[in-house]
Amino acid sequence: MASTSTRPTFGRNKNAATTTSLDAYNVDLKGKLADAGATIIVGTWPPVLKIFQIGLRKGDFDADSSLTSGGKMEIDKIYPLDAVFDKPEDVPEEVKNNKRYAGLEGYTISEVAKQIEADYGKIDILVHSLANGPEVTKPLLETSRAGYLAASSASAYSYVSLLQHFAPIMNEGGSALSLTYIASEKVIPGYGGGMSSAKAQLESDTRTLAFEAGRKHGIRVNTISAGPLKSRAASAIGGKGQKKTFIEYAIDYSRANAPMAQDLYSEDVGNTGLFLCSNMARAITGVTMYVDNGLNCMGMALDAKSMEQAE
Ligand SMILES: NC(=O)c1ccc[n+]([C@@H]2O[C@H](COP(=O)([O-])OP(=O)(O)OC[C@H]3O[C@@H](n4cnc5c(N)ncnc54)[C@H](O)[C@@H]3O)[C@@H](O)[C@H]2O)c1
Repeated sequence: MASTSTRPTFGRNKNAATTTSLDAYNVDLKGKLADAGATIIVGTWPPVLKIFQIGLRKGDFDADSSLTSGGKMEIDKIYPLDAVFDKPEDVPEEVKNNKRYAGLEGYTISEVAKQIEADYGKIDILVHSLANGPEVTKPLLETSRAGYLAASSASAYSYVSLLQHFAPIMNEGGSALSLTYIASEKVIPGYGGGMSSAKAQLESDTRTLAFEAGRKHGIRVNTISAGPLKSRAASAIGGKGQKKTFIEYAIDYSRANAPMAQDLYSEDVGNTGLFLCSNMARAITGVTMYVDNGLNCMGMALDAKSMEQAE
C-alpha cells in the first residue's frame, strides 16, 4: 500500500540501534529519531564508554538532546560494542586484559545483536556512525598494511558485520544508515591511513548490501556523505599544533567553494538521516546521499590563487 504521509513517520515504539558518536552527527540523528518516537539503543566503543556515561550524567549532550515535543532524548540502554570484533573468540588476550575493557563482556557484534534481541525483540533502524584509522595522519603512500587493514576493518567491514548480525533481527521495512566522506571518490589531501579506501568500500558495500539485505530481509541500506564537521574524530585527522587542523581547513574550504556558502550543522545531517530512516524514503536504497552544501559537484576551487581574476 502506498504511503500518503507528508512528513517522516515511524509510528511509536520503533527501536533504533545506533553506534555512538560523542559529539557530532550521530547525537543529532539520535535526537531526531527519538523525537519521531523511536526508542534509542546505543552501542559504545569500550575505550570511551566511561567518558560517554559521565558526559551523559553531567548533561554534556543536553543541548543537542532536546526534543521538539519537549523534554530531552532518553537513551534506553547502552551496550559496550567494539565493531572490530565479530565473535568472542576474535578478541585477543591483550584486549581482554586491557584496563579499558576490564569488567566488560559481550561487546562483540554478534553478542550485542543477541543481547538486543533478548531485550527488545526486533529493531527497525540501524545506524552505523563510527570510523577509526590508526594511521589517518599518514599519507596513503606511507601507510602500513596493518594500518590500512585496521581502517578498513573498523570503518567499512564493521557495517557489513553489523548488517550480517542485525538484519535478521530487523523488521521488514527497516532501514540501515551509515556515514561516509567524499574522500572515497575525490582526493582529499590529509585524509590518510587508508581512510579514503575504507570510505570507498563503505559506499560500494552500501549498494551490494542494499541488494542483498533488500531481497533477503526487506530492509533498506543507505549512506550519507556528510560535509566537514569539527567532531572529536575529525579533529584527530591531522594538523594538531599547527595554525589550523585538517578539519578546520576542510570547513573553511567548503564555506569558500560550495554552491551553498553557509555553515553545515549536525542538524542538516540529522534531518537527512531521519528522512532516510523513515517511511518517506521507502523506495530509496543503495544510495550515497550528499549532505555537504553541494561541495561534491564542484570541479574548480573558487578561492584558488589561479582563479583570482575570474569573474
Ligand atoms: N566529522 C566529519 O566531518 C565527518 C564527515 C563525513 C563523515 N563523517 C563520518 O561520521 C561518522 C561519525 O564520526 P564523527 O566525525 O561524528 O566523529 P565521532 O568521534 O563523534 O565518532 C566516531 C566514533 O567511532 C567510534 N569508534 C571508533 N572505533 C570503534 C570501534 N572499533 N567500535 C565501535 N565504535 C568505534 C568512537 O567511539 C567514536 O564515538 C564516521 O563514520 C565519520 O567518518 C564525519
